[in-house]
Amino acid sequence: MVSRIIPVKTFDLVIFGGTGDLARRKILPGLFRRFLSGQMDSESRIIGVARQNLDCRAYRSVIREAILENDSGARDKIQCLEAFLTLVSYNSIDAESESGWDNMACKMRDGTIHAYYFSVGPSLFDNIAGRLHRHGLVHEDVRIVVEKPFGHDWKSACALNRTLARHFHEHQIFRIDHYLGKETVQNLMALRFGNLLFEPLWNSKYVDHIQITVAESVGVGGRGDYYDQTGAMRDMVQNHIMQLLCMIAMEPPAKYDPNSMRDEKLKVIRCLDPVTRNDLVRGQYEKSAISGGYLDEAGKSGSTTESFIALKARISNWRWAGTPIYIRTGKRLKDRASEIAVVFKQTPHSIFAAGSGRHGNILAIKLQPNEGIELEVTIKEPGPGGMRLIEVPLDMTFADALGPSDIDNPDAYERLVMDVIRGDQTLFMRGDEVEAAWEWTDKVVSEWENMNEKPLPYSSGSSGPDDSLMLMHRDGRKWREIRA
Ligand code: NDP
Ligand code: BG6
Repeated sequence: MVSRIIPVKTFDLVIFGGTGDLARRKILPGLFRRFLSGQMDSESRIIGVARQNLDCRAYRSVIREAILENDSGARDKIQCLEAFLTLVSYNSIDAESESGWDNMACKMRDGTIHAYYFSVGPSLFDNIAGRLHRHGLVHEDVRIVVEKPFGHDWKSACALNRTLARHFHEHQIFRIDHYLGKETVQNLMALRFGNLLFEPLWNSKYVDHIQITVAESVGVGGRGDYYDQTGAMRDMVQNHIMQLLCMIAMEPPAKYDPNSMRDEKLKVIRCLDPVTRNDLVRGQYEKSAISGGYLDEAGKSGSTTESFIALKARISNWRWAGTPIYIRTGKRLKDRASEIAVVFKQTPHSIFAAGSGRHGNILAIKLQPNEGIELEVTIKEPGPGGMRLIEVPLDMTFADALGPSDIDNPDAYERLVMDVIRGDQTLFMRGDEVEAAWEWTDKVVSEWENMNEKPLPYSSGSSGPDDSLMLMHRDGRKWREIRA
């Protein structure tokens, strides 16, 4: 199957933080792939901005290396890579000073889409927004992309929204959450609202519970300073997992358009109950035979920051009252595996003999590493053993079903950057949505923050603290295995 590429209009994209990790690992390699696919034309321009004193040639060389390192196929496309690099230039600007902006302004052409990607620490967002304005760079056709973390709590998120609103309209602000750019997350919309099969069952009458697992095998790596201030709840649950929860739980939007989608997501967040201490497990990884512990890796001896969190959330609305949503995420777990599992109730009555086996169906929406959807159904065990029931998966791994070689399947960041150029905010968060997510997160954090409580230790490479298993066991349920 060959997917249809719809080219975007010609753009001038400025990446503040153009030499940073995110730009080198995700944004520029992603743009290169969009260039290769023909979605980005050769009239468009990319301008990297950072303080480091580099000329265009030196910057292009940084980006060439970054793309070769982060895109395994790039080595076979050196000529295309060189053509792409001619579209890339560099401006040295300190976002906290006034110089260099006019020079950059000269590069912004009339008649193109202007986008400014704030791929820098959040303390600079205010500076950049204000200076873009003062240097006459803000007009109707301008968009800004704001990276996470969007605030540290409700108060700071509101303050940031107010700052941005001084210079930009809401329709110009693209608050990025790369989980919304993942193929399966969008497929969740197609699955729920493009099929008759699931929606009638999508409620507490038929769904026993939902599990959301985002397990990472990596540790905090070189991001110890950031992570130690943040922890798993703020780093993953407030944003990525909250978005997954909204997509799984929202009512059908009036249309697949930005405001209809965001209105429905906001309603879900507003219906979330506070999580009590009893429904919450925090953990921190310890050294094991597999790898080092959090305290050493992050370089934060004595830290009580959680690298793992599990919690039971409840949505108090007509659709979901009585169906808990169990969430867990953590670093240095046994595998990198993320999925949403919708666990259906058992049939109201079994006609089969006791002991023949009885299961509820499970719909597993797999985000990574292999994107796809799996439906566990009950069938008769083949053979002469009588009526014994077993579960088998109806598996639709996208790569198997659609044939990977022909699909233009962009990574989350590149897909979202193309949406920015198109001006499509459907997969971006609105200001009120982010504030509501922080309001709930703050309440969860306050459950432990005042107690100066240590997170529970778990071995690097395990499934997290045993107490997280108890969170389910005591309700007579169990987590699905973390398996890549
Ligand atoms: P890095 O620390 O790797 O890069 C920061 C970039 O900002 C560098 O290019 C740096 O260059 C530039 N910079 C710093 N200070 C200034 C300044 N005063 N004026 C102009 N440029 C400046 O950060 P990341 O790339 O990792 O992260 C960028 C943003 O993206 C952060 O908000 C982060 O939270 C977010 N993010 C990152 C992810 C990742 O995987 N890396 C994932 C999700 C979000 P120089 O020092 O030369 O100025
Ligand atoms: C980032 C978090 O937003 O998402 C990281 O800051 C995390 O800590 C990353 O590792 C996970 O993204 P993905 O796409 O690899 O699951």
